[in-house]
Amino acid sequence: MFPHLSRFKTLSESRLHLLKQVVFLSSCLPALVLATRTAFGTLGPDPVDTLTRNTGIWALNFLLLTLGMATLRKLLGWLWPLRMRRMLGLFSFFYASLHLATYVSFDHFFDVAGMLNDVIKRPFITAGAFSFVVLGLLAATSTKAMIRRIGAHWKPLHRLVYLGAISGVLHYLWLVKRDITEPGIYIIVLCGLLSSRLMKSRSRR
Ligand code: HEM
Repeated sequence: MFPHLSRFKTLSESRLHLLKQVVFLSSCLPALVLATRTAFGTLGPDPVDTLTRNTGIWALNFLLLTLGMATLRKLLGWLWPLRMRRMLGLFSFFYASLHLATYVSFDHFFDVAGMLNDVIKRPFITAGAFSFVVLGLLAATSTKAMIRRIGAHWKPLHRLVYLGAISGVLHYLWLVKRDITEPGIYIIVLCGLLSSRLMKSRSRR
């Protein structure tokens, strides 16, 4: 599609290694900024809300970035974005874990009954919990040893990422009361990523 970009099709192992280090350090930045703001008490009037929202947003950002790597591969013919997926996926789980930890500790003070009630009674929490379980399952099965152990079932299992992303976006949409602009943007991006998948599987068939 973009012939002048084909020179980036492949990267040498050393360049790929360097790129992975840059992506890793950049992906740590949001957490570092939040930790610094927590330490200096600059999280604003409602620190728990700021922590919950920021960690939630970055969990979703990294999830869509992970899905975007295959689309980048398809659009530009670059091979290396597929090698970034595991790291980006694990960062999505990392921020979702910080998000859940904030909810469990600062928001609900480890009140298990209250949280279970939330999961059962509040649809946006139900969707968030489902998305978290999916991300957890994908993170737990992302190691080389697990890929070998699961074998042929690994690829179908990791297609659950689509359900994880859909429930993550629904979680965001269902929690907003009035202005759905921001979750709306995430829905449009996710639809774009999923439709590029559908087109690819159709053209393959
Ligand atoms: C058990 C799992 C989860 C629980 C209990 C949970 C809980 C929450 C809560 C309480 C809020 C704030 C609602 C408010 O401000 O009124 C929230 C916001 C959010 N959560 Fe979750 N969440 C979970 C999982 C996830 C996952 C897996 C993702 C992403 C993949 C995610 C993404 C978000 C986003 C994007 C927001 C909105 C941030 C904003 O308003 O700027 N959450 N979540």
